[in-house]
Amino acid sequence: MKKMIIKNANELVTCSGFKAKSGSEMSELNIIKNGAVVIEDGIIKAVGTTSDILKEYDEANYEVIDATNKAVLPGFVDPHTHFVFGGYRAEEFSWRLKGENYMEIMKRGGGILSSVKMTKEATEEELYESGLKRLDSMLSFGVTTVEGKSGYGLDFDTEIKQLETMKKLGKVHPIDIVSTFLGAHAVPKEYKGNEDAFIDYVIDEVMPTVVEKELAEFCDIFCEKSVFSVEQSRKLLTKAKEMGLKLKLHADEIVQLGGAELSAELGAISADHLLQASDEGLALMAEKGIVATLLPGTAFSLKADYARGRYMIDNGLSVALATDLNPGSCFTESIPLIFALATLYMKLTTEEAINAFTINAAASLDRADSIGSIDVGKKADIIVLEFPSYKFIPYHIGVSTVEKVVKNGNLVFDKLRGGRI
Ligand code: NIG
Ligand code: FE
Repeated sequence: MKKMIIKNANELVTCSGFKAKSGSEMSELNIIKNGAVVIEDGIIKAVGTTSDILKEYDEANYEVIDATNKAVLPGFVDPHTHFVFGGYRAEEFSWRLKGENYMEIMKRGGGILSSVKMTKEATEEELYESGLKRLDSMLSFGVTTVEGKSGYGLDFDTEIKQLETMKKLGKVHPIDIVSTFLGAHAVPKEYKGNEDAFIDYVIDEVMPTVVEKELAEFCDIFCEKSVFSVEQSRKLLTKAKEMGLKLKLHADEIVQLGGAELSAELGAISADHLLQASDEGLALMAEKGIVATLLPGTAFSLKADYARGRYMIDNGLSVALATDLNPGSCFTESIPLIFALATLYMKLTTEEAINAFTINAAASLDRADSIGSIDVGKKADIIVLEFPSYKFIPYHIGVSTVEKVVKNGNLVFDKLRGGRI
């Protein structure tokens, strides 16, 4: 197995920690000046200053990356995406530019339901090929772990097809994929007005196979006015938990429905979106240690008010960031765009945003013990920037500053060698 030393990092930004950072802890990046990392068997073996490390480890025995004048950070974790889908909704985007409303488009059978139609029509090969391209693009932005959801099937065959596609992609692509079952993402036409029966269908007919075939680790639901109520969400998520799935929610995105409160009641790992979350709901999340995963790209794309990131951190929450890559409300895998929006519009500091996209994003996937920071014993998922400081990440607006990506101790992307290796 390959052995690697990354040395001379102008800033080695470790984000050190094994659990979510909350409140003021989110300002702490634990930077080692002139730092080095030793990697063996895909795992971080030692972290320190370059002079200390090279006294103990003979670099002649290692593949060496010289990060002189560069910043080195943990790989980014994107903890909320819908990256496997058929077809596109460029037309819908142009309708929205002319003033049409996202939820209204969905109510008349467009929106998510049009992606459902196109995903049903797509072959597994088509889903696989487009998924692969999106993963390559994510890798170029420094993403080393991504969460992906089903939810463009809504029926047994297509939900399973989406999840199996993700499983296959995880086997061939360097990015680790964490799968979430989102069988209740929208109400299919044939169940309109009969949402309770659809929830029962998902619980009785789809979820058992998802669990049995180990196709997902999390269960999620779109808890929203005109989609699934708090009661329906409680029912589905309670069953999911009984069946061994961990919980996530699309909560309080468009209307303040009580999704944040429900996430605390059920002990979810994260509640996501939260644009409209109540003070009480957020306080309960802070108390229970539920990660608030914020998706500023979606607010931007829907021209909605941003989630109250600054307020959440000031009130002791653990905030994570994600792209929400999907074909409708936010068609982007751009990590730098999300950094720009989180810092300029949600008022996070650069340090908070970096923790939100590394250790807290890992916690949002229940993986803070194994990824999300440069700590001994964790997976060697590490990025090298083209610039000397992490401060360039939001400053170079909308442009990727990532030069190299090391995944499980292997160099898998290098801009200087033309990209994907
Ligand atoms: O996270 N809000 C619900 N689900 C997705 C959007 C999916 C879509 O429009 O296709 C989201 O924004
Ligand atoms: Fe989403």
